[in-house]
Amino acid sequence: MKKTIVLLSGDGIGPEVTRAAAAVLRESAHEFNHQFEFAEYPLGGAAIDATGTPLPNETLDACRKADAVFLGAVGGPKWDALPVGKRPESGLLGLRKGLGLYVNVRPVKLLEPLRGISPLKADRLGDLDLEIVRELAGGMYFGERGNTTEKGVERAWDTESYSTPEIERIATFAYARAENRSRRLCSVDKANVLTSSQLWRRTVTAMSSVYPTVKLEHMYVDNAAMQLTLRPAQFDVLLSSNMFGDILSDAAAALVGSIGLIPSASFGSSAPLFEPIHGSAPSLAGTDSANPIGSILSATMMLRDAFGLSLEADSCSRKSCEKRCSALSNTPSATVGVSSFTFTILQAGLLATNAYLLRGKRTQTVRRLAGSR
Ligand code: IPM
Ligand code: MG
Repeated sequence: MKKTIVLLSGDGIGPEVTRAAAAVLRESAHEFNHQFEFAEYPLGGAAIDATGTPLPNETLDACRKADAVFLGAVGGPKWDALPVGKRPESGLLGLRKGLGLYVNVRPVKLLEPLRGISPLKADRLGDLDLEIVRELAGGMYFGERGNTTEKGVERAWDTESYSTPEIERIATFAYARAENRSRRLCSVDKANVLTSSQLWRRTVTAMSSVYPTVKLEHMYVDNAAMQLTLRPAQFDVLLSSNMFGDILSDAAAALVGSIGLIPSASFGSSAPLFEPIHGSAPSLAGTDSANPIGSILSATMMLRDAFGLSLEADSCSRKSCEKRCSALSNTPSATVGVSSFTFTILQAGLLATNAYLLRGKRTQTVRRLAGSR
């Protein structure tokens, strides 16, 4: 199989974790006789420095033509003073919009040997294994915004707005995902306050008859945040808007011990995008202490969900990932993610990661999901 993969390393620890992901993909291509061609393009702060804009046209064009895109992380204090729209993060948002990416899946699974680094007590943690399906192309991130000054008083606003088709397309994905997991879907909103959430809830409810095997539940976002902390194992698939999904996914990541452990995959009308959900962690950059697991798991999602290469994804976990990770685990400086994450635990964690990847068999390819309705 021949595939073109665009690498967008970005800023901070982005280049380090991207190298880890690319190495795993290269090993997989070598082992299974595929041809993965990599092309690197600037995005975020690195692109601002090089070209004056966070999303150069050449970067977006290359991504559109690629079979898949891998992104490290964007942002950093160097660009913090820039206005919204000119910051590194707007490069990422422009990329999501430019690729028509409206689905973002964030699997959050407890790695058994890392149970001890969770901030939750074991009895609360249970068997945490959930997926956040986050709407990625709409809501407050892309709504009307502005600011004025009247009589010396400044005012700024961002608007949350969703249309029925926008809700339906993300809910379709979430229902299908739930059908292939434990058939529980929890749709998160703030329908007791927001009109956009009322439409969200009505739309998701109206679709439930098409998915009779999926048990649908609605939850207000404030309660969902609390329930994630109190009893996270109650959740299977969580469906949310762009903004709520951003917030809940960081909270969920903390439960398994580190945001550095969580991968993500985004799908839409053009090339799919794979990225760990962590930020650029500028203070860790160049210290060889960034956690590459979220990045490596994102690469594995690329193999499985973008290319349909389940065997390769499994093997990547057994061999490439294991080898790379045990190499990392021999480096005392590979204390990653959280301070208690020693290299010994890292090794255990990566072995557990492999088990996690192997269990990914029940995750259907996105093409199948899309075709299942
Ligand atoms: C994420 C990040 C991004 C987001 C930032 C970097 C723009 O927090 O992917 O969760 O808010 O979507
Ligand atoms: Mg976030």
